[in-house]
Amino acid sequence: MRLRPYRFIAVIIVVLLGVTSACSSSKSSESKAATSADGQRLITPGTLTICADFASPPFAFEENGKLIGFEAGLVEAMAPSMNLATNWIDTPFDSGFSALDAGKCDVIVSGLTITEDRKKLANFTDAYFDADQSLVVRAKDASATKNLADFAGKAIGAQAGTTGQAFVEKNKAATTSIKLFPGDDAMFAALGAGEINAIVQDFPFSHYRASKNPTEFAVVQRYPTGEQYGMAVAKSTTGLLDQLNTALAAVEADGTYNEIYNQWFGATN
Ligand code: ARG
Repeated sequence: MRLRPYRFIAVIIVVLLGVTSACSSSKSSESKAATSADGQRLITPGTLTICADFASPPFAFEENGKLIGFEAGLVEAMAPSMNLATNWIDTPFDSGFSALDAGKCDVIVSGLTITEDRKKLANFTDAYFDADQSLVVRAKDASATKNLADFAGKAIGAQAGTTGQAFVEKNKAATTSIKLFPGDDAMFAALGAGEINAIVQDFPFSHYRASKNPTEFAVVQRYPTGEQYGMAVAKSTTGLLDQLNTALAAVEADGTYNEIYNQWFGATN
């Protein structure tokens, strides 16, 4: 899940380019405005409004009334360099793009895999996270059911609208049924209660749930789909996209990204 070496080199290049362009643009207020996420481009001036699914540990989830997690930490680290405050809006994963279209947020940050189809709906920042798919079962079933083929005649859960849904639709046994859930909490509760027999979902999400509840859940397969997460902005907001990429490159280059990464994935990887 770490950044691959070529990404690291790319990050350094982006930062160097960013520094060069920042120097040159400061000479002209006109070109500065072209890359700034100013009031006109943001739903609330001075604030980055973010759509995220708040039931997405370890990426974004609430604890003691506070939103925490890898993506919560990442965006909070990026925002100051963009001179922006943040406002997080809880949005079911499946409603992200319609919320963006409706102007409810400036950006979706929700473990969103960059895909060709989704690139038609929005512009994506540079990738900030690598992920695969996975198969999760109840811990007590872990030795008996290890493959999608073992679920003929049974039900597998997926979060609606996700690449996990697409993966299970494509690779399931003909007689396996799929049950879709708007969010992860209900989906894992259904697995625990025996309403479904397995879940197909991004490995970092399922690995975290299983490692927190090892007596309940087990990840029995990891499918190397090579997905990458990006933040999505409306097609019209190119200035904001540049600003997000510059801020992302900066936190990657100064070690902040690694700090936040290790906080959430260091011990479990
Ligand atoms: N990466 C997958 C996708 O883009 C799943 C994302 C689930 N995200 C979430 N916040 N629960 O479809």
